[in-house]
Amino acid sequence: ERVSLWGGRFAGGPSDALAALSKSTHFDWRLAPYDIAGSRAHARVLHSAGLLDEANLSAMLQGLARLAEDVETGAFVPAEDDEDVHTALERGLIERVGTDVGGRLRAGRSRNDQVATLFRMYLRDHARVVAGMLLEVVTALVEQAETHIDVPMPGRTHLQHAQPVLLSHHLLAHAWALLRDVERLVDWDRRTSLSPYGSGALAGSSLGLDPEAVASDLGFSGAVENSIDGTASRDFVAEFCFVAAMSAVDVSRLAEEVILWATKEFSFITLDDAFSTGSSIMPQKKNPDVAELARGKAGRLVGDLAGLLTTLKALPLAYNRDLQEDKEPVFDAVDTLELLLPAFSGMVATLTYHGGRMAALAPQGFSLATDIAEWLVRQGVPFRVAHEVAGACVRECEDRQIELWDLTDEDLARISGHLTPGVREVLSVAGSLASRDAKGGTAPDRVRDQIGAARARVEDL
Ligand code: ARG
Repeated sequence: ERVSLWGGRFAGGPSDALAALSKSTHFDWRLAPYDIAGSRAHARVLHSAGLLDEANLSAMLQGLARLAEDVETGAFVPAEDDEDVHTALERGLIERVGTDVGGRLRAGRSRNDQVATLFRMYLRDHARVVAGMLLEVVTALVEQAETHIDVPMPGRTHLQHAQPVLLSHHLLAHAWALLRDVERLVDWDRRTSLSPYGSGALAGSSLGLDPEAVASDLGFSGAVENSIDGTASRDFVAEFCFVAAMSAVDVSRLAEEVILWATKEFSFITLDDAFSTGSSIMPQKKNPDVAELARGKAGRLVGDLAGLLTTLKALPLAYNRDLQEDKEPVFDAVDTLELLLPAFSGMVATLTYHGGRMAALAPQGFSLATDIAEWLVRQGVPFRVAHEVAGACVRECEDRQIELWDLTDEDLARISGHLTPGVREVLSVAGSLASRDAKGGTAPDRVRDQIGAARARVEDL
């Protein structure tokens, strides 16, 4: 018969069906190292509170050290009957040091405060890993922005040619979004750095254990203010999932452009062989699978967030077993990002840009029309009139299938008396770019400032 943690009150063990439903070792085992660290800290506060003598403390710490080693080597794994990681490790400790020592560890703690604490520890570690991987993508983008500082390209709105911009300016736009995701993780960590250990099942500890001591032992900045909140809240999980989903969505926007830019029609980039795939039937194919998987996995991360929030919605305080459903979505989010981001940053870092093609397309689609209008404004013409005049230039060019810079001085004068030959100074991509020199603009000098600012931000984080 199955042995459970609550044997005293029960005449028989749980049914097979309940045991199967209840079980979480197949996904929560990854918390094992954190569980053991928590147990070590807990043993120390039991000792400080006079509830564990010196000899028992040292036997327990030795047992936990051996258990940690066996978990690491795989010599100790969850058994069929272990319900969760916490139960399994308690069994492991008792097997190593006996019930008289091992059976003392559970005093003053519950799996409710345990799991809330370990989960924070696990996520804080992985938030660091994910942040580092996001910064790799940012660094790849900043480096390319630096290398290609002289490449203009068609800036788009509605996917239509809008105004020329520097390729670097465009790449940095993606970098800033990803930097904000990293900042979100840093900010999240500040809130998550509070330990629920000592909250017990929900009401706190009566045994004189010091939650602040456990907290600092485990690398937290302090203990939670409220034991109910400590055991029942999972907003730290949801917030992590949001930042994970947001990061994936930001990555997916860059991925989508990589996919488009690699098409024959765009021909803006070529993917490195190491980061593209072929076709089993079409010998000529080179496919952007990394970018497509990035785009696809963003959906999966949004699903993880939606699933988790749905689990949390309307849950009464304090702990409810529903909360066991909090782990798989965020583990999936972590695993997915840790798998995706190294491939994604590798793909970005090895892209070849076809600057000549981008530059040639930059002024097409009448993307300098706004420059004509703004030049007229600088000559004192009201913008409404200027917009009309520039529009008339576009219409004339479209009818005659020529470009704006093909209009002769006579053509210009015929369209409007305001259009003197001086307008030609803005009818070039270089002139257009240089004129957008306010902070945040695409003028080469401003983009150089931006590269410096982005580099400084990366250093800061
Ligand atoms: N495995 C559970 C979880 O992940 C923790 C155990 C709490 N169970 C309980 N019956 N109080 O949420």
